[in-house]
Amino acid sequence: MNVDKILKRYNADRENLIQALHDIQDNTEGNYLRTGDLKKAADYFHMSLSEINGVVEFYSMFSKKPRGKYIIRVCQSPPCYIKGAFNVLGELKNLLGIDLNDTTKDKLFTLETTSCLGACDEAPVMSVNNIIYGKLNTEKIKNIIKHYREEKRGK
Ligand code: FES
Repeated sequence: MNVDKILKRYNADRENLIQALHDIQDNTEGNYLRTGDLKKAADYFHMSLSEINGVVEFYSMFSKKPRGKYIIRVCQSPPCYIKGAFNVLGELKNLLGIDLNDTTKDKLFTLETTSCLGACDEAPVMSVNNIIYGKLNTEKIKNIIKHYREEKRGK
C-alpha cells in the first residue's frame, strides 16, 4: 500500500507515530521500514529522520532490513528462560537452518527474540506474527513450523 495513504489515516500528532510505523511495516513486502518511507513519516510527523530512526532502533518490533513473511519471536524474559526458552531457540535454529535475526532463503521465516509476550503462565512462549504459542516442546515447535510451511504451499 502507498505510504502516503497510510500516513493520512493518522492525525500528525507524535503519539500516533508508533502505530503509523507498525501500519507501514505491516503493509511493506518484507515486513520492514524502508528509508524512503521513514523520510515520509518524518515529514508527516514534523520530525527529523534521525529522531525517527531513534524510535525505530529503540523498539525491537521494527526492522530496517527485509524479513520473512512469518516473524518468529522467542520470549527471553526470565519466566520463559527458566522454562527452556534457550532450547526453543536452538530447536528453531536447527529446524529453519538459520541463526538468530536471520531469514530463511525462501523468505518465509525470520527468527528473533523478544521480551515478555504477556503469556508467562504458558512458558516457554513464542509468537509467529501476532499469534502466541505457549507450553512449547520439540513436537509442538515442529508442528507449528510445518503448519506455516503448508500454509505457504496452500494446503
Ligand atoms: S516471560 Fe515469556 S511470556 Fe512472559
